[in-house]
Amino acid sequence: MTPRLELDDVTVRRDGRTVLRVERLRLTERRVGVVGANGSGKSTLLRLLDGLIDPSTGRVSIDGLDTVRDGRQVRRRVGFCFQDPADQIVMPLVADDIAFGLKNQGVPTSAREARAATVLDRLGIAHLASRTAASLSGGERQLVALAAVLVCEPATVLFDEPTGTLDLVRSLRFSRLLAGLDIQAVVATHDLDLLEDFDRVLVLDRGVIVADDRPGPALARYRALAAETQAVEAQAVEAQVAETPAVGTRRAETFSVSPR
Ligand SMILES: Nc1ncnc2c1ncn2[C@@H]1O[C@H](COP(=O)(O)OP(=O)(O)O)[C@@H](O)[C@H]1O
Ligand SMILES: [Mg+2]
Repeated sequence: MTPRLELDDVTVRRDGRTVLRVERLRLTERRVGVVGANGSGKSTLLRLLDGLIDPSTGRVSIDGLDTVRDGRQVRRRVGFCFQDPADQIVMPLVADDIAFGLKNQGVPTSAREARAATVLDRLGIAHLASRTAASLSGGERQLVALAAVLVCEPATVLFDEPTGTLDLVRSLRFSRLLAGLDIQAVVATHDLDLLEDFDRVLVLDRGVIVADDRPGPALARYRALAAETQAVEAQAVEAQVAETPAVGTRRAETFSVSPR
């Protein structure tokens, strides 16, 4: 059964500012997308779901396990794929990095090696096992980071902008890979094509969920919102320019009096 992620009366405050406010949210779908402008609260929402940050008020739970009280158990069920793979690759050698999480879970050495080999093979990167993480390209590093999460067999994986640094071919490959994974995935992204086949998409605007729907209508709302914001910003720039008409004139005057 797909895990049940729940938020009740949640706020997150940072530097005295409320950066996320969610009254009630239940996520039970296999594929959930999260979109929104930079700073709208996508990463904050994802981090809450894994207990990486605690809510300032309210409660976050996964299948009834509280992310604050039952943090260890939550993190066993929920994996986090960071925006920057460098934040999560901890061991110099790829194979060791993949096996690292299993060591923490107390899995014996032989089983660790076998599981690491299986997951590398599944992701089509078995040839990278003996490489150093530092020698990998950005896309390869992203796949190694994903392998390190998947090897722990979490029921849910939270992806924070997983295709942000990938080229088109690799983004499409990631999309296909994700489609074949038997996990619940919550994906924050600016790659709207990635969300086409998703079950549900949340649209965040300044820390509030302003749309929650199937991808079609949710993304239409997001596009409309972005267009509105852009229009307001353009108006503000125009108003600013109109308030300073002398700039061009002053320059012309300066040039006209400057000696040759
Ligand atoms: N460690 C922090 N300290 C202060 N403010 C933060 C911190 N992390 C995030 N924020 C603020 O919270 C808001 C939401 O950030 P974030 O969730 O990272 O947005 P997104 O992932 O959508 O770009 C932003 O205004 C950001 O500046
Ligand atoms: Mg973010």
